Amino acid sequence: MGRVAELADVSVRTLHHYDAIGLVRPSARTAAGYRAYAPGDVERLREVLAYRRLGFGLREIAELVGDPTTDTAAHLRRLRRVLLERRDRADAMVAAIDRELDARAKGLTVTPEEQLGMLGARLYDTIGGAYTATRRTDPRIAAQIHRALGDARTVLNVGAGTGSYEPADRTVTAVEPSAVMRGQRPASAAPCLAAAAEHLPFEDRSFDVAMAVSTVHHWKDPVAGLREMRRVARRVVVLTFDTDEPGWPDRFWLTRDYLPEFPAVLADFPPLATMADAIGARAEPVPVPWDCADGLFEAYWRRPEAYLEDRVRRAMSVWTRVGPQAEQRAVRSLADDLGSGRWAERNSHLAGLDAADLGLRLLTA
Ligand SMILES: C[S@@+](CC[C@H](N)C(=O)[O-])C[C@H]1O[C@@H](n2cnc3c(N)ncnc32)[C@H](O)[C@@H]1O
Repeated sequence: MGRVAELADVSVRTLHHYDAIGLVRPSARTAAGYRAYAPGDVERLREVLAYRRLGFGLREIAELVGDPTTDTAAHLRRLRRVLLERRDRADAMVAAIDRELDARAKGLTVTPEEQLGMLGARLYDTIGGAYTATRRTDPRIAAQIHRALGDARTVLNVGAGTGSYEPADRTVTAVEPSAVMRGQRPASAAPCLAAAAEHLPFEDRSFDVAMAVSTVHHWKDPVAGLREMRRVARRVVVLTFDTDEPGWPDRFWLTRDYLPEFPAVLADFPPLATMADAIGARAEPVPVPWDCADGLFEAYWRRPEAYLEDRVRRAMSVWTRVGPQAEQRAVRSLADDLGSGRWAERNSHLAGLDAADLGLRLLTA
């Protein structure tokens, strides 16, 4: 074991651990009766260590090397594919960082019209690298979405991003136009195609259900995208936002008191009723839990300090859409009000609430 550890450049402790969990077991015996590594064990160790260096977890590796249908050449081809995917992802992220640096350098000269023009996949190829810091599935919102999927077995997830809210117990196909977002999907996530909602590359009625979460407001043509979902699936489930209610910007203190620029971001977004009519959907409110696990724009309505954190804001597209000047002013003003107690005074009624209706709506058709 010591000799193999030395040759493989790992500790004896690591080998003991791999032995204990059944990942690589020394199956031979020395003349003196000690356990030893047979050539096949060494080959298996080489494969395990190669996957380990690529960042795979031990459980995942056990599945990969334990697959009797996969020989060494197949392992190498698989490793090669993983490495190429990583390289593509790194290239996309470097390009995104360059664009972000460029946008920041231009920050103060970009007009609001230009900010608003930065839409859809282009926006997410720029800001998407920061998404997974705080954006993930909230179990309560997921439960509501999954209930709406009914007994569907095959699911199309449109504007799928990094895979949040994809049900684990059904067959999912994802569609996502941003390379940066596709590149951040976990290795175990559903297969994902590069396409946009407005032109779904599927035959009519290919899926039991098509779902879309927190994405419709990014589409160039939301109604066209919803009609496409209707065409390719028997059922449609969409989590979106209601701007029909008069005075809707006052529903949430962040928009009401700190970010009056937000309504302009949604100026071209169709009314909820128009979207619902386009696909024959009914709408139900989706309350945002006070400790919402998905860092969406409304997530921190009872945890206002979170909005002062750059990593929290960078995972919310709103801040890029309103531009750096509005963002800096809003954050400064919120910080002042939190410090002076003014925020707490104005929003004392929130302290006792477990969930709030802030305009999120689930359309089901
Ligand atoms: C806020 S993310 C939501 C991602 C995911 N559904 C979730 O809940 O985490 C919005 C996503 O919509 C995607 N998107 C933008 N324009 C799109 C379009 N025309 N069709 C489909 N998806 C689009 C973006 O690239 C981004 O990944």
